[in-house]
Amino acid sequence: MAKQYDVAVIGAGAAGMMCAAVAAQRGKRVVLLDHATRLAEKIRISGGGRCNFTNLNAGPANFLSQNPHFCRSALSRYTPQDFLGLVKKHRIAYHEKHKGQLFCDDSSEQIIGMLRAECAAGDVAWRMPCKVGDIEKTATGFRIVAEGGDIDCASVVVATGGLSIPKIGATDLGYRIARQFDLQVVEPRPGLVPLTFDGPSWEAFAPLAGIALEVEVSTGDPKAKGKARAQRGHFREDLLFTHRGLSGPAILQISSYWQPGTPIVLDLLPDMDMAEELIASKNTVKKQLGNVLAQWLPARLAEGLLRANGFAPDARLADMADAKLRKLGDAINRWGITPTGSEGYKKAEVTLGGVDTRELSQQSMMANKVPGLYFIGETVDVTGWLGGYNFQWAWASGYAAGQSV
Ligand code: FDA
Repeated sequence: MAKQYDVAVIGAGAAGMMCAAVAAQRGKRVVLLDHATRLAEKIRISGGGRCNFTNLNAGPANFLSQNPHFCRSALSRYTPQDFLGLVKKHRIAYHEKHKGQLFCDDSSEQIIGMLRAECAAGDVAWRMPCKVGDIEKTATGFRIVAEGGDIDCASVVVATGGLSIPKIGATDLGYRIARQFDLQVVEPRPGLVPLTFDGPSWEAFAPLAGIALEVEVSTGDPKAKGKARAQRGHFREDLLFTHRGLSGPAILQISSYWQPGTPIVLDLLPDMDMAEELIASKNTVKKQLGNVLAQWLPARLAEGLLRANGFAPDARLADMADAKLRKLGDAINRWGITPTGSEGYKKAEVTLGGVDTRELSQQSMMANKVPGLYFIGETVDVTGWLGGYNFQWAWASGYAAGQSV
């Protein structure tokens, strides 16, 4: 005999636990299924173990999607302040780190404990670890074939996340369920991921691993308007040189906007116009170029940049033609480089793409053509910037579905 529930939530991560708790506290009989042996691994490892659980400034402009307006409704009905209210209710100490990012003072385990307690308050039933098999539409809802026995329910909420970090249990189940019910899926790809470079143009930079500095980074057409404008990324954050390419918050942010085969543009000294500065100091500064640049840039980076652009680091500034100094200024303020690829799902913090938002109600997250079937969290084609935005989407979309099921 199949077990009866009002709601089955597949995936006990951030979005799934939020949705289960909200629905159960409304009096629904909810079961939460997950194949993992450890609960909510992504929350546990997030924010370096302290979970950057929201961002005070979260709004639709901080998310990527084929429909940038889709997330507006859910985000406005469950805000960062709402989640903070829950954090305060559970007496979890937190602090603001950088640009509105809120972290636990102690451990991300506290957020997992809080969500577990909220589920317990509504008497959520658990099946974990549990292999989830086929899902069928029935006359009254759905039947889920699952380890431990079949489940009959009126609503199914799919909260299985994206493809990032397969070694802790990421799978494509959410996309497979969407396709089974004839829903479009925007091709998934890794986001918030280090970018890789190789070939001769990168040789001068390969030895710079470990160097970090604040930069401006952008990609896409700076003159783009309308929808194309929303696809253009521009950030001021820290950049880190790695053995295989570039990383750090600046690169993770821009990676979500980067299209393979196109360049990213770096401004290594965003508060200076280098060409103007170099030309203006030509007659007063007697130093070699390498030493001049090392006033503002790490010395090894200055040397790498000079060599990569055909300048000898020991050439004297005073001997340089203005046109050459303009070229050098451009190489520093507008360094365009084309990544060869990315570190992929193994290192990506999120997955871009997912269930096409045109298939879902922005109020409830329910599939328009399959009443009772919901998709929430990272499985949906809504992806946040680095900085607590992805959890805010998980909470907000989980809450929206939890209120509707
Ligand atoms: P989530 O991945 O949390 O949960 C999905 C659940 O579904 C998992 O428990 C999984 O086991 C289960 N599942 C998958 N396939 C299944 C199957 N076939 N059968 C049964 N169950 C299945 N974001 C942020 O805002 N602040 C931060 O600090 C960080 N930090 C961070 C660090 C790292 C290293 C990563 C990889 C990611 C982050 N993120 C983040 C992103 C954030 O973790 C992510 O966006 C959310 O966890 C997404 O929540 P979901 O509930 O949608 O998926």
